[in-house]
Amino acid sequence: MTTVGIDAVEIWTGNLKLDLPGTFAPQKGEAPEKYTKGLGLNASSFPDSYEDIVTMAANAAHRLMDRKGLEPDDVGRIDVATESAFDNSKPVSTYVAGCLEQVYEGDFHHANKGERKFACIAGTQSLDDAYNWIRAGRNRGRGAIVIATDTALYARGDAGEATQGAGAVAMYIAEDPDLVELSPEQGYGSADETDFLKPNQQFPSVDGKRSVQVYLARMREALQDFESVAGDVHPDDIAFIPFHTPFPGMVRKAGLLGYRYITRDTAIEEELAEEIGRQPREEAFGTEDDYHEAVREYTDALKGTDQYQEWYARTIDPTLTVSREVGNWYTGSVHIARISAMKHALENGRDLTGETLLVGSYGSGAQAEIHAETVCESWSEEIEALNVDEQLAARYDMSWEDYEEVHDAHNHEMDVDVEEFTTPEEEFVFDGWGRMGERK
Ligand code: HMG
Repeated sequence: MTTVGIDAVEIWTGNLKLDLPGTFAPQKGEAPEKYTKGLGLNASSFPDSYEDIVTMAANAAHRLMDRKGLEPDDVGRIDVATESAFDNSKPVSTYVAGCLEQVYEGDFHHANKGERKFACIAGTQSLDDAYNWIRAGRNRGRGAIVIATDTALYARGDAGEATQGAGAVAMYIAEDPDLVELSPEQGYGSADETDFLKPNQQFPSVDGKRSVQVYLARMREALQDFESVAGDVHPDDIAFIPFHTPFPGMVRKAGLLGYRYITRDTAIEEELAEEIGRQPREEAFGTEDDYHEAVREYTDALKGTDQYQEWYARTIDPTLTVSREVGNWYTGSVHIARISAMKHALENGRDLTGETLLVGSYGSGAQAEIHAETVCESWSEEIEALNVDEQLAARYDMSWEDYEEVHDAHNHEMDVDVEEFTTPEEEFVFDGWGRMGERK
């Protein structure tokens, strides 16, 4: 059996930027450090008034096809993952295909198109669908385009407002991939939860504090489930762990959970357990409260160790560089974390070929998934071809008044006449419902 995985990836950031310490913090009367140190964010990406989930998705996919020399005939499947859909019937992938058909001679008439929804984890689920379709031998030699695209906006004044973002990640899933091969093993943690939901409403209803706990609980279950099929994971065998990143502060907590979980049988855990006078295993405790108290003591002690800090700096921190500048891209976030880590390796002259990534995806509602990826030989050319830094630097830096205008435009009336802060350059733009996705 040939290998199957991500052959190539491209991103498209919303063309606007909101500076959190400089512009947002003073308006909220908060210290800038709450955002930069606490949440771990410097800025968020926003769509200009001519951008939406379709244009960002089509622009990322066009860049991907162009760079890889792909024609519509090479694509047997287009799946879009989003939690910002505006159409309850027609999938976003049909709009995206319509855009792409403006610039290619061929068409996607024989490609299967769909839309996946399960909050942020839908991007990874679409990746799985593409993987399974290829492994089942139904692809006729073709690959799949998977696009994760979202405008992650919260109501103004909601605690989540600081974690907004907008952008798309397009991936080509194929046999003999150039970037990463996906493991057949997966672990899941899944339960019916109501801490983050959007039932027929524009903005999410969120119990932010609880959502953090639900994320950690589901991620722990997924790790456990993954190890039950893939065998024990050792922290030194993993190059990076890209986690779903609603904001980097969340991943600080997930990193600690991951380390605590995968090192449970190693010396450091036993040493610390002895130090705090308890066994760091759930079964050793009488009540839930006792257990949580012991975990708190244990993790506080663990956080301060050189061993943990060194591991975090090597394995987790490099996954957060891009996220710090763009905020939450919902379905795209975990895929941004992968790019961020690989970009960091490239910039530091590290060869990742053959190394393992442990990918931790998550979606509210709630489900976590863990799978492993093996880095392919041509990974560095793939990552070198990206223009992430240029895209981020080209964003227009909004004033507070600009931000309010853009926020209103994107969330109340899609078809309103608002200012354009940037000029589209050879990209698909939203130009009214009848003419959406025109290339300018
Ligand atoms: P908040 O309540 O405004 O913030 O919002 P806070 O008071 O908890 O402070 C945040 C952190 O900053 C804390 O750090 C503070 O101590 C620190 P922590 O204790 O957590 O480590 N802090 C400071 N640090 C340095 N200097 C200072 C300072 N002040 C405070 N001066 C909350 C936080 C997460 C609730 C909010 O951002 C929120 O509601 N976000 C939206 C929900 C969310 O992102 N949840 C994450 C898990 S769920 C998920 O990931 C799924 C999601 O992506 C959706 C999907 O799947 O579809 C959201």
